[in-house]
Amino acid sequence: MSLKRIKHSVPDVRWPTEAEASASLWFSSTQIGHLPVEQRTWVPAMVPWRATEDGFVTPEVLDWYARFAEGRPGVLVVEATGIRDIASGPLLRIGDDRFIPGLRQLVEIVRERSHGHTRLFIQILDFLTVRRRPEPATFFGRYLTIHPALRARLARAVSDDRWLTADERDVRAWLATADRSVIEAVLDERELESLDYGYRERVWDTHLPWIRDLPSVLPALFAEAALRARVAGFDGVELHYAHAYTMASFLSRLNDRDDGYGGSRELRVRLPLETLRTVRARVGSDYVVGIRYLGDDVVAGGSRVEDAAFYGVEFAAAGVDYLSVSKGGRFEDARQPKIGEAVYPYTGESGYECMPTVLGDERGPFGRNVPLAATIRRAVREAGHRTPIVTSGGIHSFDQAEAILRRGEADFVAAARQTLADPDWFRKVRLGFGDSVRRCQFTNYCEGLDQHHKQVTCKLWDRQIAPAEHDVPMATDGRRRLGPPPWRPPA
Ligand SMILES: Cc1cc2nc3c(=O)[nH]c(=O)nc-3n(C[C@H](O)[C@H](O)[C@H](O)COP(=O)(O)O)c2cc1C
Ligand code: SF4
Repeated sequence: MSLKRIKHSVPDVRWPTEAEASASLWFSSTQIGHLPVEQRTWVPAMVPWRATEDGFVTPEVLDWYARFAEGRPGVLVVEATGIRDIASGPLLRIGDDRFIPGLRQLVEIVRERSHGHTRLFIQILDFLTVRRRPEPATFFGRYLTIHPALRARLARAVSDDRWLTADERDVRAWLATADRSVIEAVLDERELESLDYGYRERVWDTHLPWIRDLPSVLPALFAEAALRARVAGFDGVELHYAHAYTMASFLSRLNDRDDGYGGSRELRVRLPLETLRTVRARVGSDYVVGIRYLGDDVVAGGSRVEDAAFYGVEFAAAGVDYLSVSKGGRFEDARQPKIGEAVYPYTGESGYECMPTVLGDERGPFGRNVPLAATIRRAVREAGHRTPIVTSGGIHSFDQAEAILRRGEADFVAAARQTLADPDWFRKVRLGFGDSVRRCQFTNYCEGLDQHHKQVTCKLWDRQIAPAEHDVPMATDGRRRLGPPPWRPPA
């Protein structure tokens, strides 16, 4: 992003009549694999932080998706849901059969509220350990390993060989009060990162046995989770190969594993492909399996659109049913968190590119990532595959979405924040009530809530309670309504 900080305004737009909308491409039917889909409108995954601490669906999760279903998008993708059965805060989980009943309820409520018009997929993900930024005293007192190389650097830094053999407690105590310049001379790059940002694992940390073993464990974990999605009744499963998480890191040019799963493009895509094939074998050829991945990592040394085009062709050849293209959202360039907080992958330039705001460069946030989808689509088509491509990022209007489809840049046009601002907007536009769409301001108040794992709401509606509304469910802070106000088409 250029350094210019230009404040864009959300453009005035024209809305179609009902007849124009009904004749449009965006509201026209198509297929994903064998699955008929009524519209090319799409709600991509958004984590709302409403699950229980142990990963179960709650009434608030049901309300959240029910509300999106009322807008009747063609496709609604349920938030990133963990494939492992491990503690991960209020993030949905699908790592055990005990999660199936709650997920089945979610499927049922979406069917009911969309009157069967919306197809429901669930995004499934794996992620590696990321710890909060520690108190320096705790880091030096407990977390830091006092190993011979560190002792040697310390002895050298202060010209005192007694540190080579000093009692470990003395080393820890001394480092805890040492000057920053000494700390920088003593800790290696990763240790310093753990102090300043919190400990974070990489997929290329193959000295750690559980990281080395990822290629042998992930395909089955994804496949079992995908099968649970099918059993729960979802219309399809989306493999989360995007942003800061495990599979995106395998795909990244930064992945230099030397075990046959890193280095060249062909080797970086190997585990994501093996996983896709294992998932496919487990769920069958008649079930939708899609992939969300990055058109560009946006970090130094990361993958670019040429890599993404190559991956897209590989995934298509391996039988993926759709490709949903995102951008950035990586840890590598994230801002330093406060002590006690975890690094958040949407704070650096790559984070900006993932969820662009109105404060940006000349290009502005609107449709910013469409060229990536278009490049991938072209490569996939040239290779002879018909795999649908989904684009997202700053989508805010009918004309914009329609033009993207008409130009053949994508097959589905997705909107996350605009749909959070107004879940009814697809239906309003489809019925000719576009003038009443509550329009996203693209200033990322919602993303700020996500960053702190607070229940996500939209600033346009979370304080608006009409006198006639009773028993409105509120966020745990008691100050925000959890869901947008209701809407009914005028009689
Ligand atoms: C609150 C929030 C949570 C999100 N959670 C996810 C997620 O779980 N998985 C994912 O792939 N993208 C996630 N995203 C990214 C969106 O799917 C989308 O790619 C991004 O917001 C850009 O699209 P937009 O401009 O239409 O909002 C999230 C976005 C927001 C605002
Ligand atoms: S909080 Fe802001 S950016 Fe998020 S959906 Fe609402 S208006 Fe859009």
